[in-house]
Amino acid sequence: MTENGCEYRERVLTMDTMNPNIKRVEYAVRGPIVQRAVQIERELKMGVNKPFTEVIKANIGDCHAMGQRPITFFRQVLALCSYPDLLEDSKFPEDAKSRAHRILQACGGGSLGAYSTSQGIEMIRQDVARYIERRDGGIACDPDNIYLSTGASDAIVTMLKLLVLGEGMSRTGVMISIPQYPLYSAALAELGAVQISYYLDEDNCWSLDINELSRALQEAKKHCIPRALCIINPGNPTGQVQSRQCIEDVIRFAATENLFLMADEVYQDNVYADGCKFYSFKKVLSEMGPEYSEKVELASFHSTSKCYMGECGFRGGYMEVVNLDPEVKVQLTKLVSVRLCPPVPGQALLDVVVNPPQPDEPSYGTFIKERSETLATLAEKASMTQEILNQVPGIKCNPVQGAMYTFPRIHLPPKAILEAKEKGQSPDMFYCMKLLEEKGICLVPGSGFGQRDGTYHFRMTILPPKEKLKIVLDKIKEFHQQFTDQYS
Ligand SMILES: Cc1ncc(COP(=O)(O)O)c(C=O)c1O
Repeated sequence: MTENGCEYRERVLTMDTMNPNIKRVEYAVRGPIVQRAVQIERELKMGVNKPFTEVIKANIGDCHAMGQRPITFFRQVLALCSYPDLLEDSKFPEDAKSRAHRILQACGGGSLGAYSTSQGIEMIRQDVARYIERRDGGIACDPDNIYLSTGASDAIVTMLKLLVLGEGMSRTGVMISIPQYPLYSAALAELGAVQISYYLDEDNCWSLDINELSRALQEAKKHCIPRALCIINPGNPTGQVQSRQCIEDVIRFAATENLFLMADEVYQDNVYADGCKFYSFKKVLSEMGPEYSEKVELASFHSTSKCYMGECGFRGGYMEVVNLDPEVKVQLTKLVSVRLCPPVPGQALLDVVVNPPQPDEPSYGTFIKERSETLATLAEKASMTQEILNQVPGIKCNPVQGAMYTFPRIHLPPKAILEAKEKGQSPDMFYCMKLLEEKGICLVPGSGFGQRDGTYHFRMTILPPKEKLKIVLDKIKEFHQQFTDQYS
């Protein structure tokens, strides 16, 4: 066929010919509700009349976007690394200058603009290893087991790529919690792996129950080969912090069932509740004796995006591998080398995170003050959130022990569920959409994270500034009462 004298040709890439796995990928955190929120913001700017004057977004764990201030020392070092002429500027403290100088010396041509080795700059991997050793009370960490990454996301997907194989009944199954952070379900869909869902126990503060792990595993063995178990601790979206006992039980389970462990520990500094403490899987595994510490394979993940740093945009992170087959490690290094290297500014930032000012250095006081204020504010917001939400009849919220989210259960009247179904929406999407249209509050429906059938939730972050968070919570309270009245 010709058109305007040109040979007309069918598109090569259409919905029918594209990779079907990609069509199955979903990522609720940036889904339709967020797209509508952006549209509403545009409408408000154009002067369209709404029952609110701004959209408050509590849908995504993007700390700085929600007003959290960066740590001064981190940005000073990054500024110096990006524009080394500033090393002559007397406004910058000496400890920031010495860190920047050290980082630049480790960069190709002394510039952040050079590619690094694919596993990440060696000096930074050494600093990460020392940080892990301090964190874990002296348990050894080999810098060779550290892979720097583009945020934690990249390392998680890389590890899954190594794990997934097979066809039909022999396809790899990967155990993930429900509710889960949707990176996991999305990555498994993209790789065509089998998602094995294990449910967290909502009635027990979203704890992980080994009997439930067993149930999910036995069920899955009928249609795939389970090979990996993913844990998020502290939890997203559920905010629970696992006890040491629970971690030990999970490790024993992984050992017995021959599963590769993936521990997502990006919220390791975000622990607020009394009696809760963060234990790394690496530490617990190392202390369980050679039967486990020399056998169970583990990849654990950390990031510059969360904790008190909240530096999501720098895309810094690392993965530590333990007991990985040396030949597979060679393959892993080859795989990451195809993409050259993680962003070098992100690596530099990670270096100052794991190597912050020391008590005898000039920036120490400010650093400690900024870090503790940020964490204290998050702790305050965590308790304010659970307190206000639990005052609302029809909303039940577990304690926010850690991380940056709450995942309260909402009771929806049958009439509302019916109307949602008529509209082809999940009932919690219907609820969240209405909340957005009527109050300007942007949350994510629980269905985007997974939940037990017949239960409904939303996820909100505790990140908005205190005054705004209070407004968000009061508006949710008011909305939930109005919604319940309207549909009862
Ligand atoms: C549990 C969890 N893992 C991983 C990530 C990815 O973080 P990043 O890729 O920014 O390091 C997030 C982000 O919210 C998360 O909540």
